[in-house]
Amino acid sequence: MSKQETDWDHDMIKQFQEDFLEWYHLEKRNLPWRATNDPYAIWISEIMLQQTRVETVIGYYYRFMETFPTIEALANAEEQKLLKVWEGLGYYSRARNLKAAAEQIVHTFNGQMPDTVNDIRSLKGIGPYTAGAIGSIAFGLPEPAIDGNVMRVVSRLFCIESDIAKASSRVVFDQKMRQMMPENDPGAFNQAFMDLGSRICTPTSPNCQECPISQYCLAYVEQKQTDFPVKSKKAKAKDVYFVAAAIEDAGHFLLTQRSASGLLASMWHFPLAEVSKSEYQQLATLWQKEEQPGQLDLIAEESTPTIFPELPVIWQKRHFGEVTHLFTHLKWHILLFYGRKGQQFPVEIGEWAAEDDFEGYVFPKPQQKMVAQLKKYQKLDKDF
Ligand code: ADE
Repeated sequence: MSKQETDWDHDMIKQFQEDFLEWYHLEKRNLPWRATNDPYAIWISEIMLQQTRVETVIGYYYRFMETFPTIEALANAEEQKLLKVWEGLGYYSRARNLKAAAEQIVHTFNGQMPDTVNDIRSLKGIGPYTAGAIGSIAFGLPEPAIDGNVMRVVSRLFCIESDIAKASSRVVFDQKMRQMMPENDPGAFNQAFMDLGSRICTPTSPNCQECPISQYCLAYVEQKQTDFPVKSKKAKAKDVYFVAAAIEDAGHFLLTQRSASGLLASMWHFPLAEVSKSEYQQLATLWQKEEQPGQLDLIAEESTPTIFPELPVIWQKRHFGEVTHLFTHLKWHILLFYGRKGQQFPVEIGEWAAEDDFEGYVFPKPQQKMVAQLKKYQKLDKDF
């Protein structure tokens, strides 16, 4: 922590709470989960808001609450129905953990959302941030909810030099937040930090002119706002390379389901084969050369047989571009080709689905991107 860091006395803390809460009550964002006291709804919103932007969450939140309006409904949810309402939101383990936690609540807490921080923490998928958010917002517990936004704001307020990428720094922010936390309405206090962090105290160009607490902010006084937070660089996501085959049989496409555990568990996509980076680059060069603008030339039959040994008979292959998708630790690169099913196609390794029936499958983001790319090319080339 920096030498300049000052501790606030009791009066200053009181004044700060008053100023910040007054601003929050005047300026707070009008969000659907702020119009309810239902701890279940607040829990769902907080899980969705992990790693996901507010604007994205709103529609998903309404659909989820409509589909699973109670803890009991969630505990009894069918997995594919659950994943369907989560489709496109990413980090699907969040949805599975929600259901597991709903079952825990039914069995251990008599179907009622627990109301102490320790019990809330005992639920699957709930860490210290989410327990603090639910505890403070739904039950008025004086618990901080510390995420990246809060650490940015607090690090600027006090010129805290602890590296926010390190788990060990959390305790520094936790202590500061506990010192500042008001007894009345800690939920509003936490959400004031969230709103300030997302609208005013932004990462690269904070709008200090509009900030209701700039007079308390040491970084502002010293004009060092963008020196904070201190954050070491994350390791770069690992590149992984695939070829995908969109194989058509009279308007139906072959979809395969992923295994029941691991990344994107149980979700569906076109058959994918992992290839090395050099194979990927070779194929990309070979295929792209054959492509004419506005018309997709066939790619050489012999350019694919080793990629999908289990799908040996595919005809009329055409390249239709590539898509990429960034996960937390992985970046997928997918080179796409289309082909028609040959007559001696091997026995089922997936399901044949009409394009109009894709709705009935849970597609992860990379598959959604592949389908969008396919549609784009179908429009471009009438013979596709
Ligand atoms: N991000 C996480 N929780 C939030 C909340 N309750 N309001 C706004 N943004 C949030």
